[in-house]
Amino acid sequence: MANLSTTYMGLNLPSPIIAASSGLTNDIKNLIELEACGAGAIVLKSLFEEEIILELDRRLHKMHSENYLYPETYDYYEEHDVDDTLTEYLRLIYDAKKHLQIPVIASINCVTAHNWPYFTKYLQEAGADAIELNISIFPANFDASLGQNENTTLEIIQAVLKEATIPVSIKISPYFSNLAQSIIEFSKSGIKGMALFNRFFSPDYDTDTLEIIPAPIFSQPGEFTLPLRWIAITSGKVECDLVATTGISDGNTVAKMILAGAKGVQVASTVYKNGINQIQIMNNDLKQWMDSKEFADIESFRGLLGYAKTGNPAGLIRTQFMKHFAGK
Ligand SMILES: Cc1cc2nc3c(=O)[nH]c(=O)nc-3n(C[C@H](O)[C@H](O)[C@H](O)COP(=O)(O)O)c2cc1C
Repeated sequence: MANLSTTYMGLNLPSPIIAASSGLTNDIKNLIELEACGAGAIVLKSLFEEEIILELDRRLHKMHSENYLYPETYDYYEEHDVDDTLTEYLRLIYDAKKHLQIPVIASINCVTAHNWPYFTKYLQEAGADAIELNISIFPANFDASLGQNENTTLEIIQAVLKEATIPVSIKISPYFSNLAQSIIEFSKSGIKGMALFNRFFSPDYDTDTLEIIPAPIFSQPGEFTLPLRWIAITSGKVECDLVATTGISDGNTVAKMILAGAKGVQVASTVYKNGINQIQIMNNDLKQWMDSKEFADIESFRGLLGYAKTGNPAGLIRTQFMKHFAGK
């Protein structure tokens, strides 16, 4: 019987299927069920840099209205508020570590390296096995210069690495210039892992009401081709582990990501849509496929169809449809 165990960032995982950061990983009951259904690791719901700032603003406004704002009280309340937000999160890490055997990865959603990286030490003291930085720089700032978002990403990584003694990974969007080179540079920065790619909340239009509405929040299975391509292109060159996220909904797609060179995958939408037990189904399907191909473990097929091994990247980097594929 095929062995599904793998490693990610030096951590031992019983399965390559990781529960991605989402509302599902914000609750200890779900975490216990995710482990029971065979998740290889958990990425907790992100603590948002933005969320903390909003909370601070709310308290500051309250202090203004109560007429007792002095520099000293501001400092006190600033610390107090940060601690409040943090305490809840630290409790989640602590509880998760108490109840689970699999690695627990804390997550911070961030866009700058200002004021928050010291949080890192609290996350590791609470017991987190690693930290994932969900770097969510939205690339639509017309005032930003070319390369600025890549530099900010590297600044965030360096600021966190100064504090961290546990492995640090990043989760990025595909919106960087010269994506392959950006991924390689990020991988050399001292991080141990990288998740490709986060999926931004997107807008849609309602043509009846002529309003902007949210696009579906869950991914569609066909979206897996985006991370597949970039993992295949970069897996032989990066200096950290890669995991795939977006559009992975069945065991067969997990096999594809590992063939491309990923150490594992992170899943959210399929678990929302099909229930936590979907992870067990995916593990079983992956095992069956490995048995049918006589792959005893993950490393025996990891990267087999990546750019580095195939030596023929045409299928991976082609961007134009040929007549044959375009349906004439
Ligand atoms: C409802 C919902 C909440 C999410 N919250 C977070 C979050 O807090 N932090 C994060 O890094 N990613 C978050 N994600 C993104 C997922 O972790 C995942 O990377 C993305 O949905 C793509 O994977 P999927 O196709 O399996 O859903 C969220 C996704 C969903 C659907």
